[in-house]
Amino acid sequence: MFDVLDQAPPDAILGLNEQFKADPRPGKINLGVGVYKDAQNQTPVLESVKTAESRILETEKSKGYLAIPGSVEYGELVRALLFGHEHEILQANRAATAHTPGGTGALRVAADFLKRKFPGTSIWLSDPTWANHKAIFGAAGVATQSYPYYDHATKSLDFDAMTAALREAPAGDAVLLHGCCHNPSGKDPNAEQWAALAELLTERGLLPVFDFAYQGFGDGLTEDATGLRAFATPGREMLVCSSFSKNFGLYNERVGALTIVGADAGATERAFSHVKISIRANYSNPPAHGGAVVQTILADTELRAQWEAELAAMRGRINEMRSRFVETLAAKGVSQDFSFIAEQKGMFSFSGLNPDQVQRLRDEHAIYIVGSGRINVAGMTPENMGPLCDAIAAVL
Ligand code: LMR
Repeated sequence: MFDVLDQAPPDAILGLNEQFKADPRPGKINLGVGVYKDAQNQTPVLESVKTAESRILETEKSKGYLAIPGSVEYGELVRALLFGHEHEILQANRAATAHTPGGTGALRVAADFLKRKFPGTSIWLSDPTWANHKAIFGAAGVATQSYPYYDHATKSLDFDAMTAALREAPAGDAVLLHGCCHNPSGKDPNAEQWAALAELLTERGLLPVFDFAYQGFGDGLTEDATGLRAFATPGREMLVCSSFSKNFGLYNERVGALTIVGADAGATERAFSHVKISIRANYSNPPAHGGAVVQTILADTELRAQWEAELAAMRGRINEMRSRFVETLAAKGVSQDFSFIAEQKGMFSFSGLNPDQVQRLRDEHAIYIVGSGRINVAGMTPENMGPLCDAIAAVL
């Protein structure tokens, strides 16, 4: 049977990572996959994570299955991180959380839930968006549409075009929003625009689905939840897909969460019963370790403070690299204006490099960038900054 199969294309992001690993050239630079690197070009295990892991090792008594949605305490802590401890959503008991394998797992469960219970619903994705969004919803059988988002000419959010398209979306459709640190553009709506979007989606009867993979990488844990919280008004429904890969550095533990917010406690409970059916038919119940680490850190005042400091340091380093990149390119005599990169948020920016320039960077300079020109700023270091900017100056 398999003999007739053709070769599938490599994944746009993870496939590139494999190519990078196999590249024997010394001094190669990886600005492809969204993974944080420290100044020594390492992806460190956070100290708060190490401490939590040693506690878990000492106290863990069983490897028995978790419940289908994972631990109850994990869910409570995730919801407090999203909305704040005192939020009406928490008081009214109208949110429920499933611990999922990564943010991808959360998106897939959300997609299965939509397909199962709202088969006519399409989901609207930003143009551009994370390369995997279309594949995840497509694999679950959910139709995808796209709304304009980034204006390549002005290097900014095209809010008018975005809202004009969403105004035409049929009631009952879902809209995927990047909670913060838009992947791939690094451009987010401001507080006023978030408020206007919340109003528009409510008015049009559209379901917001947040992909929230970078909380804390933009301006701070609370600041980065501005968009999400603009939607969190009484009676409003939404889905939130969290990832803890980046902000806890737990990439290979696959830890994330799907939070479903209903209009009231009863509706949430009923909707969540269907989410559990989707999970059971998918991966049955979540892997425990990553979730236990997140839970241990968030529940402990000291560990949480340590984690927040480590997160702030990662954020600070990325922002420093953004400014340094802009300065170094200018110092190398590049006349093109790259100042927009210093203003964008999170790990990613659109460099504006075209596919030919991206290819030349890879072939001639062993620098790996996603084909769209997206660069992972978190892969820049003081050491690779010079060679990187020399190479970019050479291909421009
Ligand atoms: C990325 O966009 O590079 C990350 O979210 C990693 C991934 O899974 O693609």
